[in-house]
Amino acid sequence: MSVYNEKVLEHFQNPRNVGTMENADGVGEVGNINCGDIMRIYIKVDGDERITDIKFQTFGCGAAVATSSMVTELAIGKTVDEALIMNNKDVAESLGGLPPIKMHCSNLAADALHAAVKNYREKRALHQR
Ligand code: FES
Repeated sequence: MSVYNEKVLEHFQNPRNVGTMENADGVGEVGNINCGDIMRIYIKVDGDERITDIKFQTFGCGAAVATSSMVTELAIGKTVDEALIMNNKDVAESLGGLPPIKMHCSNLAADALHAAVKNYREKRALHQR
């Protein structure tokens, strides 16, 4: 029997929003120094600061794939402020829970989303100068 629940397995087998994005408004990349896994998230943001498109790429484990798939589904349609307050627990709960040993994988997904929002803000600040 797998340590993962059905929902986690389903997202792992059919991950949503995998890929890259040309002309992304923000790109966030984070790595986990313990396992060496890497996550990259791309976002498109409209004039109301709402995330209209999101893609992810990961060089990570099954839980990293499932949590990033879920994070993209949760983030789409949200404002960048709302995305910033989403944390790894929200992601894990939306997946019906993760084994404790795999909770750090959900950090990777949430942190990459936050990094993408920060990158979006930095780019926008540069354009306004
Ligand atoms: Fe590294 Fe899951 S073991 S992200």
